[in-house]
This record gives sequence, structure tokens and C-alpha cells, in this order.
Amino acid sequence: MKVTYESWPYPRRVAHRGAGLLAPENTLAAMRVGAAHGYRMFEFDAKLAGDGAVVLMHDATLERTTDGRGRVAGVTLGELAKLDAGSWHSAQFAGEGVPTLARAGAWLKANRLMANVEIKPCPGLEAQTGAAVALEARALWRDAPVPPLLSSFSEEALAAAKRAAPELPRALLAHSLPEDWIERCRALDCVAIDANHHVLAAEVVAHAHDAGLRVVCYTVNDPDRAELLDRWGLDCMITDAVDRIDPD
Ligand code: G3P
Ligand code: MG
Repeated sequence: MKVTYESWPYPRRVAHRGAGLLAPENTLAAMRVGAAHGYRMFEFDAKLAGDGAVVLMHDATLERTTDGRGRVAGVTLGELAKLDAGSWHSAQFAGEGVPTLARAGAWLKANRLMANVEIKPCPGLEAQTGAAVALEARALWRDAPVPPLLSSFSEEALAAAKRAAPELPRALLAHSLPEDWIERCRALDCVAIDANHHVLAAEVVAHAHDAGLRVVCYTVNDPDRAELLDRWGLDCMITDAVDRIDPD
């Protein structure tokens, strides 16, 4: 399907980093936890390993979320496969691996779940990462009923994703809203703005909708705040609190 403002197919709640507070972020274990809480869509961070493999990892370095050391861009997939990406979180997840985008995509598709792939390039690899993620996402979700939503803070990465697989829906991530945010979204042919919820207001949401853009926001962990954002007409909220915020 082609995702447009009118045909927007995504649920109102998305699990952040695969539900990565209750389980180690950006792992299949986290997605299982989110799915067990009824979540149907998962945000995760995708970047390139040193040999070009697309893997799920937030940081550009391995230390925080694995037992490895150094840069993600400095290791091969084979080296990543030996790492423990679960013990840092808790003993219960010891041995959990770093998933590839292919592995995560296959698992999500098999379980009829949706994806928000955040393109999170290692420094200097913006265009390369955008293109690689988009091409792989196109192949992986070829026969899926709903395509993954690609998002990025990097306009360079989104532009490369657009060139590589223009049919995949895109959202521009924003920590703050520059004056020309609508023009920036339009230049990248985005279907949505994906903003830090702190910079949103009812008028901003209305303005986006008037401009034909859906509004996604991150990362909302307070149920009262989620309710207020719902009243403003938010289309989609990314949350860690899969145990406290209802999935839809
Ligand atoms: O995709 C939204 C959100 O994940 C952006 O922040 O740092 O958690 O990737 P971060
Ligand atoms: Mg992210």
C-alpha cells in the first residue's frame, strides 16, 4: 500500500526501542515484551556495521548496550553476533543478541506487527545508511500489508532513503521545530513530522494537519501526558511505558 495522509495505517501507540526499558533496547526480547502488552508497532534504531550489515543499535559505540568495545562501524556482523546485548539490562536477558534488520523484520512480519525504522547513521555515514536501510526495508517488507515507516533526524539520510526507495513512507524527526519545518518535510516528501513531544502544542498539531502532515511524537511515558496529546489530535505516540500506556 502507499501511505498517504488519508491512508495512514499506523496505530496510535508505538513501543520505543522495541519496549526497551522493560527489556534490553533494540532486541527481539524487547519486542516480545511489547507484543505481550498488546503493542502492534515497534520503533527501533538501525545503523551500519563495519561490513555494511544493517543492525539494530542506538549508540554509535558498543559499550552501553553490549559487552563489546569500540565503534559499531568498526566491527563486522560476525563480531557483533558474538556480543551479549542483554546482560547490561538484567540477568534474565543474558545472551540476547544484536539483531540484524533482516531478523527483526522477519520476526515482525511473522507476527503481523508493524515497524518504525529509525535510520540512525554513525557519524559520516548518513547517505550510505539511509540508502542501505531503505533498500533492505523495501526487500524485507515487499509482501507486507503495511510498509515500515522510515524516520530520521538526519535529512541527508532521509533524502538518500527517498532516492533509494521513494515509495516507503518517511517521517522527519525533530528535537525542536525550526521555522521552516513544514518545508523541510515537504522537500523530503514526508508523510509525517516526528517531534519531541515537549515542542508540540495543539496549534502545531493542527498546523501540521492543515499542511497534510501526520504527527508522531516521542517519547511519552506519562499516561496523563499521553491523554493530553491525544486531545490535541496526535496521530502516533512512541513510548517506553508499554506496561502503563494502553497500546491503542
Ligand atoms: O524515533 C524516536 C526516538 O527513538 C528518537 O530518540 O534517541 O530514542 O532514538 P532516540
Ligand atoms: Mg530511536
